[in-house]
Amino acid sequence: MNITRRGFLQGAIGLAGAGMTTALAVPALKTLLPPPVTRCNDDDAHETLTYKSESGKWYENMGGSVAKKEDFNLWDVAIVDWAPKDLEQELGACEIQLALAKVPAEPSMNGLGVSVDDGNAYLMAYHTYKCPHLCCKPVFSAEGTSTISGNDYENMFLCPCHLSLFDPLSVIKNVDEQGREVMAAELLEGPAPYGLPVVPIEEKDGGLVGLMTQIEWLKYCGQG
Ligand code: FES
Repeated sequence: MNITRRGFLQGAIGLAGAGMTTALAVPALKTLLPPPVTRCNDDDAHETLTYKSESGKWYENMGGSVAKKEDFNLWDVAIVDWAPKDLEQELGACEIQLALAKVPAEPSMNGLGVSVDDGNAYLMAYHTYKCPHLCCKPVFSAEGTSTISGNDYENMFLCPCHLSLFDPLSVIKNVDEQGREVMAAELLEGPAPYGLPVVPIEEKDGGLVGLMTQIEWLKYCGQG
């Protein structure tokens, strides 16, 4: 194509004008953007597992205080808040909630939970914040009848959305959808792709704390 000098100049002037218009529009556009994401407050971070305030539960008057192994009888389950400092960087959340349970001891719990009652029971934390299926919140159910199999069950985590059933006593090695090995409460039935991940815990200064060592196990459903 044969571009004349006059045509070139007209084009250049037009481009310069468009650039100025864009430059003027940028500050105006910025006012339309959502405000920056709120960063988690480091002062609010805690590795301790603290009781969630929930009326009608056995721990309802303990909201905000650090969970201790002495608080639990066998098969007591409590929802606790966990907000370690690096959680936002790893999962994009300031805090998550876990189910903390005292369960009869099984060898596979060694190194994941806190051994109590002369080794006959463990305090264990399960990631009930998000079901590995479509991210609902499984709840502890002391007893019930499965609407999928018709079988009666005791002491399970049940996901209310599509009824996946997880056994907290059977902590087994699973493989998640990214091919990672995950220790989880075994999936007994329902559409979840694998079990409900465990969050390793330990005792520190008389209270229970969650460990970040296996945070990769929680990276699904938009987390991480
Ligand atoms: S979200 Fe839990 S079974 Fe579907």
